[in-house]
Amino acid sequence: MLTHERLKEDCIMLSSPGLAESAGHIVGRSPQTRLLREQVSRLALCDVNLLLHGESGVGKELIARTVHQLSPRSRGPFVGVNCAAIHESLLESELFGHIAGAYTGAEKATLGFLRAAEGGTILLDEVGDMSSQLQSKLLRVLEERAVVPVGGTEALPLNVRVIAATHRDLAAAVKDGSFRLDLYYRLNVVTIDIPPLRERPDDIPPLVEAMLEDMADVLCMPVRTIDQDALTLMMSYDWPGNVRELANVVQRAYALGRGPTVTVEDLPDAIACQGDLGEGEVAGGTGFPSLKQATRDHVRRALQASDGVRSQAAKLLDIDRKSLWRMIRRYDLD
Ligand SMILES: Nc1ncnc2c1ncn2[C@@H]1O[C@H](COP(=O)(O)OP(=O)(O)OP(=O)(O)O)[C@@H](O)[C@H]1O
Ligand SMILES: [Mg+2]
Repeated sequence: MLTHERLKEDCIMLSSPGLAESAGHIVGRSPQTRLLREQVSRLALCDVNLLLHGESGVGKELIARTVHQLSPRSRGPFVGVNCAAIHESLLESELFGHIAGAYTGAEKATLGFLRAAEGGTILLDEVGDMSSQLQSKLLRVLEERAVVPVGGTEALPLNVRVIAATHRDLAAAVKDGSFRLDLYYRLNVVTIDIPPLRERPDDIPPLVEAMLEDMADVLCMPVRTIDQDALTLMMSYDWPGNVRELANVVQRAYALGRGPTVTVEDLPDAIACQGDLGEGEVAGGTGFPSLKQATRDHVRRALQASDGVRSQAAKLLDIDRKSLWRMIRRYDLD
């Protein structure tokens, strides 16, 4: 008998329910996110393997789910596997399944994540963390469109769309020999690069709005709004944890705040105190300006030297106008 219960638990473990995860709910109004939505709807209809690349929390799983939901496979299962979260010794049988008696303790046969996704889509998250032995086995599966369970001899046909995701630079991993070139080509028929949230601050207002509505829904409370000062600070913050971190901040603000509006006081210090240093001031009592402070002063000087003409300031700084615009926003130099 095949066991499905464990599979179901693991798949659920990977998914993060809550925020706008249904088809068409990739929230954002930045040019990058608009392009992303277009790519997602086009690629959903084209049954090729995809590679999603981006920092943690940028929305790789959301995009994989959306591709699945918009694709002709949407009636089939969506299975997500975090390859980095499963111990290497277990990952092989978790992915490919095993026959009864394949090894000590393997009394019952298991289906494996790949066959559990039959007719649907599998997301192989953190695929860059897979051992070279498993990389070879996965390559065979992709080439032959069939799986041989651990301990078995028979190749069982497989009809699954593979979406791989990684925060690593797989091209660099290929160069340093830690990732197979042939597997890289198989997975990377199309790569979608999802930019970090700090590179698309325009997405923050609609994301916050959607999150506030979501929270109100979940908590059955009236929808709260956010004031412009809080939003401006959020738009200049770096967001190392990307959209996931933004969601945590909004949840925290909801939990702490009392009035109908989220204000700067409801934000964590890391965000609320960003703009506290004035020109020439030093950070952390070290007597030495922080890199952030020095950068801000330098950009300000370039703007002064060019009488506020941004194209000229960008030239002085040897950066493009878009990067200068981002710095002006980030360091509140408008
Ligand atoms: N554009 C977006 N619109 C709405 N919600 C988003 C968007 N991007 C990300 N999210 C939400 O942010 C959270 C994190 O996204 P997700 O889990 O897809 O990131 P990830 O890139 O897979 O992260 P990790 O690398 O840590 O696995 C999820 O709750 C997701 O729904
Ligand atoms: Mg993920």
